[in-house]
Amino acid sequence: MCGIVGYIGNRNAYDVLIQGLKRLEYRGYDSAGIALEGFDGQLRVYKAKGKVSDLEKAVEGKDVTGTLGIAHTRWATHGVPNNVNAHPHLSQSGSIAIVHNGTIENYGVLKEALIREGYTFKSETDTEVLVQLIEYVKVKNKCGLFDAVREALHQIEGAYAIAVIERDDPDTIVVARKSSPLVIGVGENETMLASDATPIVGLMDKVVYLKDDEMAVIRRDKPLQVLSLETNHPSDFDIQTLKMSVAELEKGGYETFMLKEIFEQPDRLRDCVRGRILDDGAQVVLSGVRDNRKRFLEANRVVIVACGTSWHAALIGKHIIQDMCKLPVEVEYASEFRYSGPIITDKDIVIAISQSGETADTLAAIQLAKNKGAFVYGICNVVGASIPRNTDSGTYIHVGPEIGVASTKAFTGQVTVLTLLALCAGQIRGTVDEEKVRMVGQALMQMPETVKEVLKLDGQIQQLARTFTYAHNFLYLGRGYNYPTALEGALKLKEISYIHAEGYPAAEMKHGPIALIDSEMPTVVIAPTDSLYDKIVNNVQQVKSRGGAVIAIVNKGNASMQDMADYCLEIPEVPECLTPIVASVPLQLLAYYIAKYKGRNVDQPRNLAKSVTVE
Ligand code: AGP
Ligand code: GLU
Repeated sequence: MCGIVGYIGNRNAYDVLIQGLKRLEYRGYDSAGIALEGFDGQLRVYKAKGKVSDLEKAVEGKDVTGTLGIAHTRWATHGVPNNVNAHPHLSQSGSIAIVHNGTIENYGVLKEALIREGYTFKSETDTEVLVQLIEYVKVKNKCGLFDAVREALHQIEGAYAIAVIERDDPDTIVVARKSSPLVIGVGENETMLASDATPIVGLMDKVVYLKDDEMAVIRRDKPLQVLSLETNHPSDFDIQTLKMSVAELEKGGYETFMLKEIFEQPDRLRDCVRGRILDDGAQVVLSGVRDNRKRFLEANRVVIVACGTSWHAALIGKHIIQDMCKLPVEVEYASEFRYSGPIITDKDIVIAISQSGETADTLAAIQLAKNKGAFVYGICNVVGASIPRNTDSGTYIHVGPEIGVASTKAFTGQVTVLTLLALCAGQIRGTVDEEKVRMVGQALMQMPETVKEVLKLDGQIQQLARTFTYAHNFLYLGRGYNYPTALEGALKLKEISYIHAEGYPAAEMKHGPIALIDSEMPTVVIAPTDSLYDKIVNNVQQVKSRGGAVIAIVNKGNASMQDMADYCLEIPEVPECLTPIVASVPLQLLAYYIAKYKGRNVDQPRNLAKSVTVE
């Protein structure tokens, strides 16, 4: 993880870099740092443990002039979060500074070799090894910074997006990437680099997405140069127009990004289905599926790979695809997939789901699936990210930037796209009838209004959250389509409130977790009136008879559950396959308010980061 940003131009680099770091803070926020360079032959480096705001405090009264700079917001992989381990890291002589996102796997051997050459190390990071190596190569080969970086990178194993500057050259930034993202913003007489496009928005509207194994030299007042790391030959690059707006990156009056993202779900789900449902619901068209008709017709099996919340969406996708396409579906944690000796053939469709499109485990799973000849389909939110660029085809969920670390609108967007995919592929395969497509299609078109209705539960959920703020454990139960909803509800609570929560298939509860139930442990039951409703009623009774409090998510007007459960949250009725979208919204709010009342930093929960770009 980590966010990196760099600037070269006529503005005060500090202001641009701090604003950029704030937009990248979702990627890591245990420490931050900045290196600035002016024309006075000085490299000004400031670092602080904690958030970007701590860095701002640390530099108060200090010299922050300079029109070139690089900056970093960290999520530590090697070495605890402190001032010394924070980036930028300097070379032995103090003349080269680096910021790095990724991990250097062979840093141990390189460090030993450099120590033998007389180098000393201040930090525990892998990154410091790289900057020392760059200096070592530069001195040994008597070469310029670009060649030194390139040569050093040839000796590196691991993942990186780096930006390197040199004290003696206030006109150049050298950047490179391998398995970690890097975007370059191209303006009039100014250039930026960043881990994603958000720091660039509002300053420049042209961007270049650097590809893997590419380096670029950014020179003041000179055209951008992109080269292949391998051959050192110039690489072709596309300059694309950024479509994101500053408003999308702001809280828009909400107290946190997460709350904004929960409440904007009606609009974002409308964006997600726009142009994809035709003929009043009777036809669903995803170009990524339609253009690969043959693959979907001839497929023997679907395997979905993802992590975290995206994995929960995958579990829901399994039900929907099996139902609509009559194809067997397996769901794998991307991080386990590679190590499970997966049997993948060219008749398999491997779907990779990721909000960020940069999750290292998911990217590695994609690579493996491709090597085995599978057709790989990406479902991603961030436009231009590594996953959509490394898959054979795919669909964007188009829910706009998700900045809160806990995923909310991306989850409902992913489930929506999986439903669209299942309907579109089912129509191609002739495994779903028009009536069903119309019923689900229309409900999806109606979904913005339905979710608006659910959001009216806000006040009731706030009260509920006050009642349960001090619980130490929570159990979430669901069945069928809503077992993954239970997992997702529990994950939301865990990640932002730090309360232990477990999601379980409701019927499995009696095989173990039932032992945990007492008056101290609330159970959240997702119980829409679907094909498994009668079964889940039994599970509620089992909890009640052991003295546990039950919060039930039920359909409007369900009087029988009102008598059983302690609290009921009523949601509108939708086709069974869409209940996870509707039922997950009150769970997002419940987790949100409990975390808020516990005084947690909801947008930036401890130990986490938005995209996990390390394995
Ligand atoms: C979601 O709330 C989590 N923060 C996390 O589990 C996330 O879903 C996971 O890291 C996968 O990220 P991705 O969707 O960007 O690949
Ligand atoms: N490995 C570097 C560090 O620990 C960068 C971390 C990252 O990108 O996640 O500082």
